[in-house]
Amino acid sequence: MSKNQLPPGPEGEGKLGCLPEMRANPMEFLRKVASEYGGIARINMGAYYSYLVSDPKLIKEVLVDHYDKYKKNTRYKQVRMVIGEGMLLSEGEVWKNQRSHAQPKFTSKALDKQVDWITGLASKFIDNWDSNANQEKPIELEFQFNLLTQLLAGVWVMGEGFKSRSQRVFDIYNQIRMNWPEMTDLKASLLKPKNLKKEINFRRALHDLNKTVYELLDEYPDIIKNDIGFLKHLISDADMDKTAVRDSITKQKRSLRDQLLTLFVTAFETTATSLCWTIYVIDKYPQVKQKIYDEVNEVIGDQTPTADLLNKLDYTEKVIKESLRLYSSVHSFSRVALEDHEIGGYHVPKDMTVIISSYVTHRLPEYWEEPDTFDPSRFDKERTVGRSRFAYIPFAAGHRNCIGSYMALMQSKLVVALIAQRYNLSLYPGHRVEKHAATTMRPKFGMKMNVERLAA
Ligand code: HEM
Repeated sequence: MSKNQLPPGPEGEGKLGCLPEMRANPMEFLRKVASEYGGIARINMGAYYSYLVSDPKLIKEVLVDHYDKYKKNTRYKQVRMVIGEGMLLSEGEVWKNQRSHAQPKFTSKALDKQVDWITGLASKFIDNWDSNANQEKPIELEFQFNLLTQLLAGVWVMGEGFKSRSQRVFDIYNQIRMNWPEMTDLKASLLKPKNLKKEINFRRALHDLNKTVYELLDEYPDIIKNDIGFLKHLISDADMDKTAVRDSITKQKRSLRDQLLTLFVTAFETTATSLCWTIYVIDKYPQVKQKIYDEVNEVIGDQTPTADLLNKLDYTEKVIKESLRLYSSVHSFSRVALEDHEIGGYHVPKDMTVIISSYVTHRLPEYWEEPDTFDPSRFDKERTVGRSRFAYIPFAAGHRNCIGSYMALMQSKLVVALIAQRYNLSLYPGHRVEKHAATTMRPKFGMKMNVERLAA
């Protein structure tokens, strides 16, 4: 292969190339590209080209072997406006310091210690569904899970002070989501002009969000002593008096805001969406449901779930993993090349955007037998032997993998267990379920579920 050989790929039509097809159904479009052109493909997006890298061996090249030749894709101005220079978007020394400082709080040992209060809040929340139970009064599961996971993420990240602000932040965040400017860059605006009203609403909601976080930070010195949140870890590990805490907050206000909102945003919507799909598949496959309910009954019975008990829910964990394969809430992520180099023998020019789509890679027939079939036994130990680590990337891979993967799995197991102890959830008859690639892969029409209270 010559040194400057470009990967094969679709050109699409006219000035916009493949952009219209990509925008219509990004996940299926990318799947088609991988199946037609192979593990690395070059896609004409109209005013520019992007690469899709879907072969696990080549994903390893991007995320591990040549990780230093890439940076995070931070072209989306709005994402940066909301979460700023937190761990998701920061680079270099800033990122290194944030990640290494945060890491001890994300270990299984540290997170298992949080299970008791998380269980308390989650149980209380889920018990509220009693008011919908046994009366054809369905709950909107996606909405409920977003409310729940943002409460859990908010308290874990920002501490006790979040509890009284939970609803307010939820409302503001919904405003941000609803008014998310669809077109973020010049090239994409070829398709649609800017919507000024949306932009104004977006900025107003962002202002309210900042105000709320700064308010919480101002009050923090008064409650830091008994707090459990990540914020405490960010301010100091040592015992500080109120004045020292206040000074520390004042000095790093903007950075604290960015770090808190980054963790909050990355934690809650991803987990809520994943949970929603997990409950959907549990309901869809009666045998899976039966096995989950049997396991929860056998391992936990009517006790309050603890970290030790959750760690014994082997089958439940496999169901969650398989649901994350087929319904990966982060359906894709991307990197931008910092310099010219090669991947899989093909030339990658500086500034090229490289898309990695878990949706595509999780469905490659070379790695996943009957990829569209839901089958939790794929995660039986014997069956995982020899499977490339890079064929399963719901939490990405390499040095910038998801720091919260253990937390996400723990919370998901907890919520499944709490539901199995109390309710039978079933899809509302006639409710349409369709995958939709927004910031996360959401159910396009939400997820309406009937609630049946199980006999005690
Ligand atoms: C099912 C739930 C979750 C999924 C599917 C998920 C997935 C991902 C993926 C794919 C990435 C890499 C993104 C990229 O490289 O562009 C990522 C990064 C990240 N995730 Fe998660 N995530 C989940 C839950 C969480 C939770 C609970 C937290 C915790 C607070 C969290 C915090 C983060 C952070 C901070 C990063 C950036 C890490 C870095 O760049 O060093 N995530 N996540």
